[in-house]
Amino acid sequence: METKIVRIDPERVEDFEGALREAAEIIKRGGLVAFPTETVYGLGANALDSGAAERIYSAKGRPSDNPLIIHIAKKEDYEKYCIPENSEAFEKLKGRFVPGPITIIQKKRDIIPDTVTAGMDTVAVRLPSHPIAKRLIELSGVPIAAPSANTSGRPSPTKACHVIEDMMGRVDMIIDGGECEVGLESTIVLLKKDGVTLLRPGGVTLEMLEEAVGEVQVDRAVKGKLEEGEKPLAPGMKYRHYAPRASVVILKGEDGAVVSFMKSALKEESNGVICYREDGIDGGGRVEILGSKKDKSEMAHRLFDALRAFDSKEEIKKVYARLPEDSDLGLAIVNRLIKASGYTVIEVK
Ligand code: TXA
Ligand code: MG
Repeated sequence: METKIVRIDPERVEDFEGALREAAEIIKRGGLVAFPTETVYGLGANALDSGAAERIYSAKGRPSDNPLIIHIAKKEDYEKYCIPENSEAFEKLKGRFVPGPITIIQKKRDIIPDTVTAGMDTVAVRLPSHPIAKRLIELSGVPIAAPSANTSGRPSPTKACHVIEDMMGRVDMIIDGGECEVGLESTIVLLKKDGVTLLRPGGVTLEMLEEAVGEVQVDRAVKGKLEEGEKPLAPGMKYRHYAPRASVVILKGEDGAVVSFMKSALKEESNGVICYREDGIDGGGRVEILGSKKDKSEMAHRLFDALRAFDSKEEIKKVYARLPEDSDLGLAIVNRLIKASGYTVIEVK
């Protein structure tokens, strides 16, 4: 398949109507378009067309039991596709965080094909704030099903070059809209009569959710390792994810101990590290700086790019990374790093 790449300036979307109309035509006729959102790049197709959704699964090599998020362009559209059972919490979440990096799962309406929801009786719906995503959905006139635009198992793409690496020749069009602001996928919440459950932490933090709706349950898969056979509420959370080709090892401990462990690990040519700017570690191409220790937004923004950077360095077999504390955006970073490591954690003294 030939993949067309178009560059759109997210700050001047109105100057790119022609390209966006072409992208919307592709969606309408059942094709695939990768596009930027404020979280990560998505791999989009018409969410009302079962055949189009199947094409998403095959382009990503995604297991068919892992449902897709559908993206809408205006708040009124939620209830065309889902049935709220907890209107009070739903209105609060919508009022506070939408549009933005949050996905709300509720009971599904029949119009959404089973291919999109992997046979579940619920559907995940998100209204992105990114101007390119918003305009593309509007022009398409249908909701757009879109998982992250990576090959299944790889870190999610936060730059167009990541999408090109994974999806060239597999999709009809890639829209290059620059870097994604948040850098981690949306927060996912399950909304039921009896309460709100956090399934995947993201840009809307647990603290923000609690402030808006009161008590929030946290699915065990967010931080803990599941037992053999135990099923997370979001099917995608059971797969080893976000992982570069090298194996990732998490280091826990005091700053000084972690930094000296990393420095001595770097004496070995096959080791890399992901650290903070303040750590003062320099080792050329084998060191990725996540950002300032004090700035979790910067860390979130850089994380997947840092993980992907090691994929182009074949000599690197092991990557040591540190965990931020898990408050605020830290929980989402911890969640992705822990999953990338397959729960391999070393306590250093
Ligand atoms: O930020 C994002 O959410 C990005 C952008 C493109 O919007 N999308 C994204 O999609 O991260 P994906 O497919 O990579 O992750 C969706 C997660 C998966 O873990 C999936 O299992 C879960 O959402 N999910 C989707 N529908 C669900 C449902 N009905 N019930 C439970 N989990 C669901
Ligand atoms: Mg994904």
